[in-house]
Amino acid sequence: MSPGAETADWEIRRERAEDGPCIEILTEAGFGPGRYAKSAYRLREGVKAVADLGFVAVENGILRGSVRFWPIKVGQDQALLLGPLAVESSQRGRGIGISLMKAGIAAARDAGWHAILLVGDEPYYSRVGFVRLTSSELRFPGPVDASRLLGLALSDGALETLRGPVARARIDEPNCADGAPLG
Ligand SMILES: CC(C)(COP(=O)(O)OP(=O)(O)OC[C@H]1O[C@@H](n2cnc3c(N)ncnc32)[C@H](O)[C@@H]1OP(=O)(O)O)[C@@H](O)C(=O)NCCC(=O)NCCS
Repeated sequence: MSPGAETADWEIRRERAEDGPCIEILTEAGFGPGRYAKSAYRLREGVKAVADLGFVAVENGILRGSVRFWPIKVGQDQALLLGPLAVESSQRGRGIGISLMKAGIAAARDAGWHAILLVGDEPYYSRVGFVRLTSSELRFPGPVDASRLLGLALSDGALETLRGPVARARIDEPNCADGAPLG
């Protein structure tokens, strides 16, 4: 955290159904409408986030940040896609983003997931252990800057064994399912 950053008066808790509208507003503010054009978004289209892996940061009843995880398939393996992760712009630099990710990663490990992928800035996500994915045998759908394709192993060697196309794990909402291929 930056020198002089405020103390943490927020708490991290699991996302509840009633958080949905606020999370939408946060995500819209953090990423804008351009998010729909991103390759990672294609993997979420028509698919529900993994229940019990969504976390929010709340301070005095106000939602400050959120993180969600989506199920994906990499070849024949199941994995998670981290994101969106968004923190209210006026509250950044307080450690909220890192705390949200740590809560989600711990819950994912407890739930038996083996690997998490994401598309994002390595200098930030490396703070919670993400590394650049270098395998040429892993094929992400759509255009992705390879230097932003990151992974975190939750069990020994889980990233090394991932190979094949990255695809949606399933479709939950067929009406809006015009996204990436299915695994
Ligand atoms: C990225 C984001 C979630 C970070 O949330 P946050 O609560 O401010 O993060 P934290 O307080 O846990 O961490 C802040 C630290 O990470 C650094 N950091 C933040 N974003 C970074 C980035 N994209 N690349 C490198 N470092 C970054 C900050 O400089 C700060 O460093 P310091 O601790 O040395 O001062 C927030 O800025 C955000 O919502 N951005 C808009 C949405 C977005 O772009 N999300 C995905 C990013 S790829």
